[in-house]
Amino acid sequence: MYIESTQLISIRDKQFEMFIPEEQILARVDEIATEINLAYAELRPLLIVVLNGAFLFAADLVRRLTVQPEVQFIRISTYGDQMISSETAQILLGMEIEVEDRDVIIVEDIVDTGYTTDFFREHLSQQSPKSVRLASLLFKPDNYRGTQAPDFIGFSIAPDFVVGYGMDYAQQGRELRGIYRLSAN
Ligand code: IMP
Repeated sequence: MYIESTQLISIRDKQFEMFIPEEQILARVDEIATEINLAYAELRPLLIVVLNGAFLFAADLVRRLTVQPEVQFIRISTYGDQMISSETAQILLGMEIEVEDRDVIIVEDIVDTGYTTDFFREHLSQQSPKSVRLASLLFKPDNYRGTQAPDFIGFSIAPDFVVGYGMDYAQQGRELRGIYRLSAN
């Protein structure tokens, strides 16, 4: 487990340093919610939350929405316990969600290479949604090789590995209230 000080933590063999504190995350989630509330004012969007990493972002986002969203969950396997993206994807949960004619917002914790969301968008497009947009708390533009970048972005960050606020390193660190990045030391 880890020894926590406010600025530096250890998870397994790695050290992570404070990167985005909780207050800053929540202030940004407020702003994204406002954007979505404006863009979907007359609509009832279907939020599809990509588990596991997006569960805290989704919880905070949903509670700030006034557009009466429907919320569904999906799980896509791409990563395992590695720090690099793998190139195969598979839907493990949520195959039954009906999106035909719906205004879908995919909710992601982080878009890195973009492979996962491209794969999922392709899957959705076969079921004729009315519209599909993507909200991601974090975006790593330097790693991105996908075709449609997120429409709603919390923070664009350098391609460092991060944990906390729902995101894990080898299934640990999800409960951290802030976001920490891999430390060079
Ligand atoms: P992509 O397919 O490369 O865009 O990766 C998307 C998924 O990889 C995200 O939903 C995360 O679950 C995971 N991921 C990518 N970068 C990180 C990171 O820095 N920390 C934790 N998970 C990450």
